[in-house]
Amino acid sequence: STVIKTNTVPRLRARKGGEPIVCLTAYTAPMAQLLDPHADLLLVGDSLGMVVYGLPSTVPVTMDMMIAHGAAVVRGASKALVVIDMPFGTYEESPAQAYRNAVRILQETGASAVKLEGGVVMAETIRFLTARGVPVMGHIGLLPQSVNTSGGYAALGTKDTAGWDAIIADAQAVAAAGAFSIVVEAVSEPLAVRVTESIDVPTIGIGASAACDGQVLVIDDMLGMSNRTPKFVKRYAELGVAIGEAAAAYAAEVRSRQFPSEAYTYRLKGDNRGPGGT
Ligand code: KIV
Ligand code: NA
Repeated sequence: STVIKTNTVPRLRARKGGEPIVCLTAYTAPMAQLLDPHADLLLVGDSLGMVVYGLPSTVPVTMDMMIAHGAAVVRGASKALVVIDMPFGTYEESPAQAYRNAVRILQETGASAVKLEGGVVMAETIRFLTARGVPVMGHIGLLPQSVNTSGGYAALGTKDTAGWDAIIADAQAVAAAGAFSIVVEAVSEPLAVRVTESIDVPTIGIGASAACDGQVLVIDDMLGMSNRTPKFVKRYAELGVAIGEAAAAYAAEVRSRQFPSEAYTYRLKGDNRGPGGT
């Protein structure tokens, strides 16, 4: 069935300069269900390579991974717009390659839009996709898929203003090409201000200050379930600690035969004997 989302691509785009847009990543249906009432946009990020699959970077993430998790998130979401990252190597070669893979992602998941990394270099591809029915979210600043050329995940535009113009030009090229919003990753606040005021579509910051039109965080990071600790991650819960405590309590009760107690045990009707049928 066709679900008309409360949060459509044009409605998200129209929120430039308005109430901040709330985004989180999600990789599974139950998490999407929990986050949907609170988020305007759920991003199935290729960060799943690291946070779900234990890969060293996002570079090895595949179309099959993004489609399996994307479809799960779409099944769990109802009002939030679902956007799916295009994996490294599936869109950079040509606009035609990008279109073929983006269409596969939308058709096989039911999501509303894709996200891809890159500024001026990707503008032609973004124009090709948006002109042919594929909404695109841009991603500029720190580009995790380029870790092998950049050499790391250092924030940009923090030492001086060298390089600011290139990032502003990236934002303008991606917006002019038709992107409905742009993720801005790991840049200094004054650069985020310049980027946000340079374009007429919403900027979604991750480590890009409160100047952006919205914010996104990786869900496992903000729930305290990952060991990744970039400066920009605020931990809103300590679920990693809670999971460790629960597993330790279970292990102790299994070893002492406290679990499963009577309340968790199926008995034969009329059998009033004690544990183990003795
Ligand atoms: O992969 C991801 O999770 C992302 C966001 C954090 C922007 O690209
Ligand atoms: Na990503």
